[in-house]
Amino acid sequence: MILPLAGPTAAAKTEDGPELVDLHPAVADMERLVIEGLSRHPRQLPAWFLYDAEGSQLFERICEQPEYSLTRCETKLLQDRAGEMAQALGQGIDKQPVLVEFGAGNLRKVGPLLETLQPAAYVALDISADHLAPACRALQARHPDVPVLGICCDYANIDKLPTHPLLEDRPRIGFYPGSSLGNFDPAQARLLLAHFAELLGQGSRLLIGIDQPQEAARLEAAYDDAAGVSAAFAFNLLRRLNRELAGNFDPAAFRYEARWEPAASRIAMALVSRRNQQVDLAGRSWSFAAGEPLISEYSVKYTPEAFLALAAEAGWRPLGRWSDGGNELSLHLLVHSKLH
Ligand code: AVI
Repeated sequence: MILPLAGPTAAAKTEDGPELVDLHPAVADMERLVIEGLSRHPRQLPAWFLYDAEGSQLFERICEQPEYSLTRCETKLLQDRAGEMAQALGQGIDKQPVLVEFGAGNLRKVGPLLETLQPAAYVALDISADHLAPACRALQARHPDVPVLGICCDYANIDKLPTHPLLEDRPRIGFYPGSSLGNFDPAQARLLLAHFAELLGQGSRLLIGIDQPQEAARLEAAYDDAAGVSAAFAFNLLRRLNRELAGNFDPAAFRYEARWEPAASRIAMALVSRRNQQVDLAGRSWSFAAGEPLISEYSVKYTPEAFLALAAEAGWRPLGRWSDGGNELSLHLLVHSKLH
């Protein structure tokens, strides 16, 4: 279904504004995923459930918190080094490529790459149509020469990119900033990287941001900021479940926690039940014991070496790497070797 970017439910198609292709998972799929996730031990829901319109806005506020430096660090790296990155990305590609961003959010990171790479088109994939629509409009206004297409979807689970004139007969370059790969467990992350190669096709390259392990106290503060925005982001998940899947979670019966788990090199974010309780959701009743966590998200941190080993298992090999001075984050440029 192709909708105009006036809003995901708008009826009229704008004359010359960018389009939004709406492939958001259906309620029945969400219900199935909730039942699967709550049946696990520990109980865990897909991280993309956090990103409804409200959750996407809360995530933007997380990125502005003093404790959460990942976004600032990556944005600066892109601003400072986009020229070099674009040159390396485009090397050996004889046709203007299409730039495809996965989990694009507010589209505020891609600007320097659009200016330096000058792709034939830019395609933004994100789970929240409400967030993506205005972001695409604003980006198109800032970059009127690059056609913009928004695709609302769970990018880990779409079979292929939709057929669209902007995507035809062009090499595709993937852009996956923000270290979002860490929100998948390593086995899923490997599959996701292989999946990106399928979506991008022949000659694919990928520029991907990965943040590194740091001291536990620093990471725990980044994921449980003093202003309480990270906690609000997790609690929003309960409100979404109540609203969209007929739940009756009582947020006051849970507390938020973010813990560094060194053995798994990850932050575990959870809503922990304050007492024994029953919750109705998706037509079933679920019991939570006192102290039992509902994992809202993991954030796995990789050293550059560990990340490249994982990428190699998915067929990607390194072409370049840019890091910040403080060794917090790297942008890796990869090429898919099976396709060459
Ligand atoms: C989107 N993702 C990379 C963020 C992270 O750092 O894992 C999500 C996040 N959740 C809470 N704070 C940030």
